[in-house]
Amino acid sequence: LVFMWKKQTMEHVVHDDEQKGLQKQIVIYFSHVVAENTPKGLAAQKFAELVKEKTNGRVKVEVFPNGSLYSDEEEIDALLRGDVQMIAPSVSKVTQLLPEWQVLDLPFIFESYDDVERAFTGEVGKRLLAMLEKKEMKGLALWGNGFKQMTSNRRLLIEPSDFSGLKFRVMPSEIIEKQFRLLGAKPIVVPFNHVYESLEKHAFDGQENTISNIYSKNFYQFQPYLTISNHGYLGYAVIVNQHFWEKLPKDIQQNIAEAMQETTAWNLNQSRKQNEAELEKMKQNPKMYIYELTKKEQEVWKQKFSPLYDEFEREFGSELLHQIKAE
Ligand code: LMR
Repeated sequence: LVFMWKKQTMEHVVHDDEQKGLQKQIVIYFSHVVAENTPKGLAAQKFAELVKEKTNGRVKVEVFPNGSLYSDEEEIDALLRGDVQMIAPSVSKVTQLLPEWQVLDLPFIFESYDDVERAFTGEVGKRLLAMLEKKEMKGLALWGNGFKQMTSNRRLLIEPSDFSGLKFRVMPSEIIEKQFRLLGAKPIVVPFNHVYESLEKHAFDGQENTISNIYSKNFYQFQPYLTISNHGYLGYAVIVNQHFWEKLPKDIQQNIAEAMQETTAWNLNQSRKQNEAELEKMKQNPKMYIYELTKKEQEVWKQKFSPLYDEFEREFGSELLHQIKAE
C-alpha cells in the first residue's frame, strides 16, 4: 500500500479535471514522524485547515503523521524527489545538509520560550531558512516542539559524571553526538521510529527529548528517570519542495504563506503550553523520578559544553551567535 501511495504521489501532485472544466485541486502531502497530539502534529493539522479555508478548497494538505509514509532518515530525500511536497524535520536533522544550522542546537543557546520565538520568527530564522534554497528546498517557517530533557533507565542524571559510560540514543547530528561525548557518554544514532522498541529492548541507557515526545510516544515507560535540564531546544524546519513551490500560482503562494504565519504563531504558543501540561501529568505518575536541575547545576553543564561554542565559532564565525544574542 505504501508503495502505491508513493507511486501515486509522484503522478498526482496536481489533480485536475480539465475535461469537465473544473478547477485544479492542488494536493500537498505533508509527512512527519511524531504523534498527532504533539506541537508539530497539531500544527500540521491546523495548517491544513487554514490552507483549505484561505484557498477555498483549491489546495488540500494531507498530513501523514507517525512516520507512516517516510521515516526521518528518508523524508528529506522523499521531498527532493517530489514524492511528498512538505516535511518538518528537526533542526538537528537539517544540520547534516547545512552545518551552520548547528547554531540552534548549541546547548543552552536559548534561555526561554520567548528567546526561541524571537530567533525563530526574526532575522536569524530568515537567514537560516534562506540557506535551504541552496539545497533546492524552500523553507517556510521554523516551528517549535520544546526544550529537551534527559531520561534514563539507570539513574537520575544530575552531575556530568552521572553520564559516564552510558549509551544514549541521539538524532543524526554531529553536534548532538559531541555533546554526549563531552559528558563521557556514548551516543548512538537511532531514527525516531525505532526509539520506542530500542528502549524496550534496553539497547541504550538514555535519550534526550522534549516532554511532548517522551509523553506521546510513551518513552517514559522504560525511562523512569527524568531530569528537567532544558539543555537544548528541539525545533523544526518546515520545508517544501522548491520546484513544486515555484510552480504554484502567486495567489496560492500568498495564501499558504499567510496560513503558515498564523500556524507558526499558534505552534510556538501551543508548544509551551503542551510541554508544561504534560510534565504535570508525568509528575502524577508514581513510577517516575523527576528532578529539576538547579541554576548552579545547569552552570556545571554549561561549562562542560563550552568547547562546542568555541568549535562553532572557529568553523562558522561569530555572526549567527551574535545575532541570536541580539535578538
Ligand atoms: C527525534 O528524532 O527525537 C525528534 O526529532 C522527533 C521529532 O521530529 O520531534
